[in-house]
Amino acid sequence: MKKRERFGSRFAVIAAMAGSAVGLGNIWRFPYVLGQYGGAAFILVYIAASLLVALPIFFAESVIGRRSGRDTYGAMQLLAPGTAWKWAGLLTILSPLLILSYYSVVGGWSVEFLFKSLSFTFTENASEAEVSGYFGHFISSTWQPLLSHTLFMTMVAGVVLGGVKNGIERFSKVAMPLLFVLILFIVGYSLTLPGSRAGVEYLVKPDFTRLNADAYAAALGQAFFSLSLGVGTVLTYASYVKKEENLVVSGVGTAVSDLLFAMIAAFAVMPAVFAAGIEPGSGPGLVFQTLPYIFNKMSQAMPITSALVSIAFFLTILAAALTSAISMLEVGVAYLVDEKGMERRKATLLLAFGTWLLGVLCSLSFGPLAGVKLLGLSFFDFLDALCSNWLLPLGGVLFTLFVGWRMSKADVRDELTNGGTCNVRLFGLVYFLMRYLAPIGIVVVFLSNLFL
Ligand code: TRP
Repeated sequence: MKKRERFGSRFAVIAAMAGSAVGLGNIWRFPYVLGQYGGAAFILVYIAASLLVALPIFFAESVIGRRSGRDTYGAMQLLAPGTAWKWAGLLTILSPLLILSYYSVVGGWSVEFLFKSLSFTFTENASEAEVSGYFGHFISSTWQPLLSHTLFMTMVAGVVLGGVKNGIERFSKVAMPLLFVLILFIVGYSLTLPGSRAGVEYLVKPDFTRLNADAYAAALGQAFFSLSLGVGTVLTYASYVKKEENLVVSGVGTAVSDLLFAMIAAFAVMPAVFAAGIEPGSGPGLVFQTLPYIFNKMSQAMPITSALVSIAFFLTILAAALTSAISMLEVGVAYLVDEKGMERRKATLLLAFGTWLLGVLCSLSFGPLAGVKLLGLSFFDFLDALCSNWLLPLGGVLFTLFVGWRMSKADVRDELTNGGTCNVRLFGLVYFLMRYLAPIGIVVVFLSNLFL
């Protein structure tokens, strides 16, 4: 077999993993979920869920990935040959492709909004009504969103075609630092808007009366999605990590970057939402509806700045979405390359095409196919619910159970401490979280999705 590629350095590992983690989940999803569950108090729950439940699962996936040095299916075959665990491997090849199909549609929206910013549509002579209505009009049309979805998927495939080092690593090492610079620039702007203070207060003054059982489940669900857990992306990336690398350090680095980015994104979006007098709990359209409206409003006073911020903002969303989307495609590509001996080129094009096709249905489900319902949900919402509420937690629980209960403790210790040379004291705590707290945490979410 051809020698597998490896990430070149610790920075490359964290850039790629944080690239997967930081995505639409942080900029598009986090602010509106936060808005729905009442602000600062939700953030605290979210941080706890990320560190106590999500991070241990991240470690579990890393352990499986690096130990085996294979794709998700191959990893199960190698570490638990001849058992039903191979189904867990297969499931987690399918689920990221399902996610990618609708993720790419939203990625496409960011392509469209970037183009619109570049042509100053939001900032020149448009009426407020036009700008805030643009989103609804755009997503419900037929061709425009399909074209954007196609462009986005093409870019994703382009990076994955380049391979682990020349594609994923190279792209992430440039995109990630850029993302942080861009989002900080936007925060700076957002905080200067008149009326933005209320947004800041919303983010820092917790109101615990608004936390209900749903909020805990939502926080954990969001932490899962944001760290790209439960569908083998972490596992696959970890299989490209060198043996000398410290998995705990790269995991913590990734989780902290992801949390930090989500917070900064919230400080970029919420003050602007409040400045515009928009309801923070208004749902998935939040970022795409609110921000253009603000850029438009501010363009009367500061035409150039607002145009620039608008470009920066949608470029940020696009870059973040791309680094995440490539990690979803890579899971399946790794499988076809490792297990089926397929050429990377062929595997990439095949899977990109298949997910693109499914994405077409998702895209149309906002327009011409809006009437087609599966279990009462549109195609897009159905896939999102299936993945976020079921497949992700299911994959997550399988991975932690595998590491906590199926693999030998000695092997897990060996992998997390690099043969006893690092993290020796920390290991007990991490192992405890992986074995008990994490699976219990997920099962609670599962049950709450079922009964609440
Ligand atoms: N974490 C990414 C985000 O926040 C999305 C993502 C990438 C993802 N890979 C994933 C989500 C795997 C779930 C599973 O946008």
